Amino acid sequence: MTFLSATLDRVKPSPTIAVTTKAQELKAAGRDVIGLGAGEPDFDTPQNIKDAGIAAIAEGKTKYTAVDGIPELKQAICDKFKRDNDLSYTPAQVTVGTGGKQVLYNAFVATLNADDEVIIPAPYWVSYPDMVKLGGGEPVFIDGVMEQGYKITADQLEAAITPKTKWFLFNSPSNPTGAGYSWDELKALTDVLLRHPHVWVMTDDMYEHLAYGDFKFCTPAQVEPALYDRTLTVNGVSKAYAMTGWRIGYAGGPDVLIKAMRKVQSQSTSNPCTISQWAAVEALNGTQDFLAPNNALFIGRRDLVVDLLNKAPGIVCPKPEGAFYVYPSIAGCIGKTSKAGVVITDDEVFATALLEETGVAVVFGAAFGLSPNFRVSYATANATLTDACNRIITFCEGLR
Ligand SMILES: Cc1ncc(COP(=O)(O)O)c(C=O)c1O
Repeated sequence: MTFLSATLDRVKPSPTIAVTTKAQELKAAGRDVIGLGAGEPDFDTPQNIKDAGIAAIAEGKTKYTAVDGIPELKQAICDKFKRDNDLSYTPAQVTVGTGGKQVLYNAFVATLNADDEVIIPAPYWVSYPDMVKLGGGEPVFIDGVMEQGYKITADQLEAAITPKTKWFLFNSPSNPTGAGYSWDELKALTDVLLRHPHVWVMTDDMYEHLAYGDFKFCTPAQVEPALYDRTLTVNGVSKAYAMTGWRIGYAGGPDVLIKAMRKVQSQSTSNPCTISQWAAVEALNGTQDFLAPNNALFIGRRDLVVDLLNKAPGIVCPKPEGAFYVYPSIAGCIGKTSKAGVVITDDEVFATALLEETGVAVVFGAAFGLSPNFRVSYATANATLTDACNRIITFCEGLR
């Protein structure tokens, strides 16, 4: 009998954290490293939100709260769902957790039985398959290839559904590609789901507010109200409000599911940080004025990175609709040899050679389930991005 659980054998540690750690080690050793691996905005939490957290401490709002959120935050979330997504949830249909990550995890633990399948479009956020496995289920992947704008089609979804399918997990705009589904594209998927009433929809709307140009964000229960009764709409304050460290995520969904998720949380972590909850009330109820200027900044960075990366021989970089990632293909680099003599056999070798030979840290595509690619997080200053992209261009020009 082994000491560690068999479930843990099915799970791997987060590769995005591994890349960030490796880059930090090289930096500590004195190397000139540019990290493009981290999935968080580079700007600070807005002052009004910080002030709300400070006020909560000063007012002694520092004790346990209701397991899945204070009434004030639940109401702010209901108001947000109505305002932004035209979705009506009551406070009893809302749950708050320690980041979107815990909310997704709670939902899987609360619902999955052995052999239950969860359909996940690839490339996917690194944690999805492992969270499904920790919950005891089986991830089933559909490839959203570059030629399809990194999106899946209705036919692909139809073909992946089996009697064992419990959830379809949807994420738009996407981590790692930035791809965003238009209303019509999403409607094509929800039409398929209407024909399969046993399949529930978990939508991860974490990058909702990071939507650029003509692209308009939409979410499954909004596009197809008939799915409302079997949809969990997950969101959070981490990305749009630069609150990754405050750890607040939330979801709206059917009472029975929300109640089950509360049970999981009540026997694991209890309530999310009280102070962070009060700060999140301000994030959702307070001014949203900083979102537009931040997005203008992100659009400029996206365009800069896309233009530069497309100058690198062997790289093709589509322009995404949202989030702060690009997901270039390196198909044209495979089989070539770097200046240091490394044969680029796959995207992990590419990312390792790039880090060692140029000091640029990116996450390889295999971590997200679609190769050969890498992910760049462009949530950093233009000068840094220009320097990093120029190093990538030089690296690719050196491939023989
Ligand atoms: C697609 C996606 N969903 C959920 C999360 C989790 O966010 P949180 O920091 O709120 O746990 C992330 C964070 O990287 C993400 O990229």
